[in-house]
Amino acid sequence: MTDQTPAVVLNQRTRGVTEVVLNYPEKRNAFDDLIIRRLIDALEQVARDENTRVVIVRSEGKHFSAGADLSWMRRMAGNSREENLADARQLARLMSTLNQLPKPVIGLVQGAAFGGAVGLAACCDMVLATDNATFCLSEVKLGLIPATISPYVVRAIGERQARRYFLTAEVFTAAKAQELGLVHILCEDADALQSRCDELIEQLMMNGPSALAASKELIFAVSHQPITPELIEDTSKRIASIRVSDEGQEGLNAFLEKRNARWMPERAPEDED
Ligand code: ACO
Repeated sequence: MTDQTPAVVLNQRTRGVTEVVLNYPEKRNAFDDLIIRRLIDALEQVARDENTRVVIVRSEGKHFSAGADLSWMRRMAGNSREENLADARQLARLMSTLNQLPKPVIGLVQGAAFGGAVGLAACCDMVLATDNATFCLSEVKLGLIPATISPYVVRAIGERQARRYFLTAEVFTAAKAQELGLVHILCEDADALQSRCDELIEQLMMNGPSALAASKELIFAVSHQPITPELIEDTSKRIASIRVSDEGQEGLNAFLEKRNARWMPERAPEDED
């Protein structure tokens, strides 16, 4: 990695769509402390950027990512307990930053997604993978555990399946990852991956940006919660607030007036009837 070829690239794909790209294929896009910091910075930047409505997380090269950089992990033996812990918190922060990003995040996976890379995939809202992608929670093979990624991976694949794949460190196929719920869409090849991704982007661009952020918050608020009167009240408050918001009113008015809401892309002339 050099300054000329940064390991993390922010790339404006089309209007409103920003890619966060892991760009260290020589090391199979493994991430160390520096790359983790750059990834966090990039994600925080796209979270703040008012012009970004959809975020893509992808990587260059044959493999999505080999997960945490094992040389970096090994180096930690030379650090104090406090330094080691502070460092581990950065990986945890990367996962939570990606998970909580207040915009839709599409993950594109090709080749291998091992260890921490499974965590990255689990933190995306939608994951598209090529048929040849492979996944592995390989940590135990290395005498480690999938600790910081576990809250997200267990939510994505469920406790029952986690008990198998955390313990066996088996490599599993993209088709299995889809069956487990980690991957949403399987694609024949890289071209199909791009075109399915474009379809999702088109779909997402039709939706209110604040509503998308509020939808993600809603999912986190209701998941794994007992359905109590408090939770029911909370959901009532959320719809009561958003329907009278500027964006909610614009969406309702646009529908009733049979026009596009202001966040929707202009229709191409050939689409006009
Ligand atoms: N950390 C550091 N270096 C790595 C990593 C990694 N996670 N993965 C690969 N590399 C390096 C290799 O050491 C090799 O370096 P070299 O060229 O200096 O010899 C180079 O990347 C290429 O690796 P290969 O194994 O030759 O690549 P290949 O394409 O055959 O296989 C694969 C790719 C499947 C990803 C393989 O590299 C692999 O299994 N890597 C380990 C993945 C892993 O277990 N990750 C979990 C990390 S633990 C965690 O994330 C918390």
